[in-house]
Amino acid sequence: MTNSRISGFYKLSLDDRLDALAQNLNADVDSASRVTFGSLTAQEASQMVENVVATHNLPLGIGLNFKINGVDRFVPMAIEEPSVVAGVSFMAKLARAGGGFTATTSAPEMIGQIQILDLEDMDVAKKEIYENQEELLTIADGVDPILKKLGGGARDLEVHIIENSSIGAFLVVHLIYDVRDAMGANAVNTACEKLAPHLETITGGRVHLKILSNLSDRRMARARCVIPVDALKFDNYAGELVRDGIVEAYAFAEADPYRATTHNKGIMNGVDAVVIATGNDWRAIEAGAHAFAAQSGRYTSLSTWSKNEDGNLVGTLEMPMAVGIVGGATKVHPTAQAALKLMGVKTASELAEIIVSVGLAQNLAALRALATEGIQRGHMSLHARQVAIAAGAKGEQVEQVANKLVAEGVVRVDKAEEVIRELGI
Ligand code: MEV
Repeated sequence: MTNSRISGFYKLSLDDRLDALAQNLNADVDSASRVTFGSLTAQEASQMVENVVATHNLPLGIGLNFKINGVDRFVPMAIEEPSVVAGVSFMAKLARAGGGFTATTSAPEMIGQIQILDLEDMDVAKKEIYENQEELLTIADGVDPILKKLGGGARDLEVHIIENSSIGAFLVVHLIYDVRDAMGANAVNTACEKLAPHLETITGGRVHLKILSNLSDRRMARARCVIPVDALKFDNYAGELVRDGIVEAYAFAEADPYRATTHNKGIMNGVDAVVIATGNDWRAIEAGAHAFAAQSGRYTSLSTWSKNEDGNLVGTLEMPMAVGIVGGATKVHPTAQAALKLMGVKTASELAEIIVSVGLAQNLAALRALATEGIQRGHMSLHARQVAIAAGAKGEQVEQVANKLVAEGVVRVDKAEEVIRELGI
């Protein structure tokens, strides 16, 4: 079984880190899954998008210490922001002290939308669609025989009447489609396009848009963790103080959209990093997350934090999670393939459960820092390295300049340039 706890990982050389991963991985992960730098070739890149001239690389860090539903997982994270990977790994360690994360998903059902205009009578058209529901579902079901064989396919139809002041009322059909381990956009869009002429015949209306909705609120992922109050104490901060500070910070996000946006951004630091590492569509995940956060009519926190009867801290996160492990870049991009193998995920639901747990841990990292010493201290040393590089430091000088910036408490490019001049490098 994989052991996601490797102490001192950050101190190892890059090669030794890869060896340590291999040694601690579940034995069924083959060595071909070894991640390598810049592994997307020019040819592969050219086949993915148009007008390719280069690839744009991001660092791939490993989130450590994760135990999710009793299973240890290494979590590959593609991200440019310092402190995210270190923060999430530390919080996963705290959560581990409480048994790790418990995560679940709903069925992988996506929603396709079909807009029908120019209808004489909305209620009649709605009834006509429902009367033909079975036939319509059979047609939609037939578009992807492979998906069907794997247990996916069309599940249901819903018809909504939408009132609109500029173009008048129209109908929107929601096609509910189980996409199994795919992200699902292709299957759903194809099915919606296939239904269009049939819906026109049935209703006498004109079908306009036919497209998947990124508010995939039927495809949800949920994570929960309990952090023992003692595990929260550090330096001069008592565990109770940290716990209550986190609950108060959550109350702020719950009540105020300005804070909720930043709070949720912190969650997405973790979520997006894994979504990107696995070649999934992070714009879709972002769009779905924020729309879901506003679904009550007021934008609010995606997570909750509270104290349980034992005095421990309980966190939950619930959000749409339309990710796949087959198709698109997840299959074509070699790093995405390596990332999926490294995690040892066999289904898209398992991947979704990991991602939502990472989001919750990332949220905890931010709230713990904000509720105690503030965010800047932890950010400083890595940020200082970036500032040193921006000022022209190279190789070993980077560490030297960064240390001096942190020691003097001024992490700015002009200061870094001054340090470089002083050190004569
Ligand atoms: C920074 O990338 C993320 C935070 O702003 C999140 C938060 O404020 O909760 C630290």
